[in-house]
Amino acid sequence: MSAAVMEKQVIPAQADGREPLLRVEHLKKYFPAGKKQVLKAVDDISFSIGKGETLGLVGESGCGKTTVGRTILRLYDPDGGAVYFEGTDIYKLPKKEWKPMTQKMQMVFQDPYASLNPFFTVGEIIEEPLKIHGLYPNKAERRERVYELLEMVGLNKDHANRFPHEFSGGQRQRVGIARALALDPTFLVCDEAISALDVSIQAQVVNMLMRFQRELDLTYLFITHDLSMVRHIADHTAVMYLGTMVEYGETGELYAHPAHPYTQGLLSAVPVADPAYCRTHTPSHLQGEVPSPINPKPGCRFCDRCPRATERCRSETPQLREVGAGHWAACLNL
Ligand SMILES: Nc1ncnc2c1ncn2[C@@H]1O[C@H](COP(=O)(O)OP(=O)(O)O)[C@@H](O)[C@H]1O
Ligand SMILES: [Mg+2]
Repeated sequence: MSAAVMEKQVIPAQADGREPLLRVEHLKKYFPAGKKQVLKAVDDISFSIGKGETLGLVGESGCGKTTVGRTILRLYDPDGGAVYFEGTDIYKLPKKEWKPMTQKMQMVFQDPYASLNPFFTVGEIIEEPLKIHGLYPNKAERRERVYELLEMVGLNKDHANRFPHEFSGGQRQRVGIARALALDPTFLVCDEAISALDVSIQAQVVNMLMRFQRELDLTYLFITHDLSMVRHIADHTAVMYLGTMVEYGETGELYAHPAHPYTQGLLSAVPVADPAYCRTHTPSHLQGEVPSPINPKPGCRFCDRCPRATERCRSETPQLREVGAGHWAACLNL
């Protein structure tokens, strides 16, 4: 294994050498799946995100993206690996130090309707994290903070007394974002945060998230199965397949020169506006579906669906290696 391969397997290099806001090393999350069966939802994933940046985490449904997000936020206990937030290994933090850390790391969920308690007013929903964390103990000041958050997301204080069902999908997602911002976080996991919305509304919500990123210096892990939007917002993109990372790179580079057959397959389903790309690339549409990650076989996990698979791919597990500057892919045929 070359030095470059080793480095990537451990810590993806930060271009400027600074400690990234988030550093994930060899993260594993397994779920029990019956007798002697293990579902390897996340199986040795490493990446980092620089402060103020967005990492797009993409892949088909069932590849383990949500599990990565939830395990980073400790909504799941990891089965291996480490997550460093601002240099601190969060899995090693004692319980009492965990609460202030959760303040800084928040999540925006896919389905704002399912994630907002229907029996609470929008004001109460946004207020709840402030109460849990004991911020703004003065009731009047807490109310003011709720109004401020509503206005930040393009709603107003009259909305505070209404219930989630009185809102449109886009407005509910704004409430979800206001709740996530209530504690003044530095890092947001946006898990399919716009996937359930109409395309026109998606753009509004994305623009709002991008504005918050600039104004509040936020760092995003933007999880989505939809590759078209992430292209415009992510600095780097990581492609996941069956619990593993198959490609990682600067977004423009990765979309222009996808190296892994899986990434190429995913991108062939995305409309491209670049005729030069269409002339030089034959579409390689993905065949079949994501198999189950229960007791995965050795070898490349993509080999059964890969148009380029050889015998070697069935026995040898590919490691990420650098295929261009800061561009990594895990394929034996590169
Ligand atoms: N809580 C859970 N218990 C058991 N299996 C789970 C759980 N959450 C996810 N999985 C399984 O882990 C795999 C990855 O799921 P997920 O992380 O939701 O993928 P994605 O977000 O990419 O669609 C899937 O096979 C899914 O069925
Ligand atoms: Mg998911």
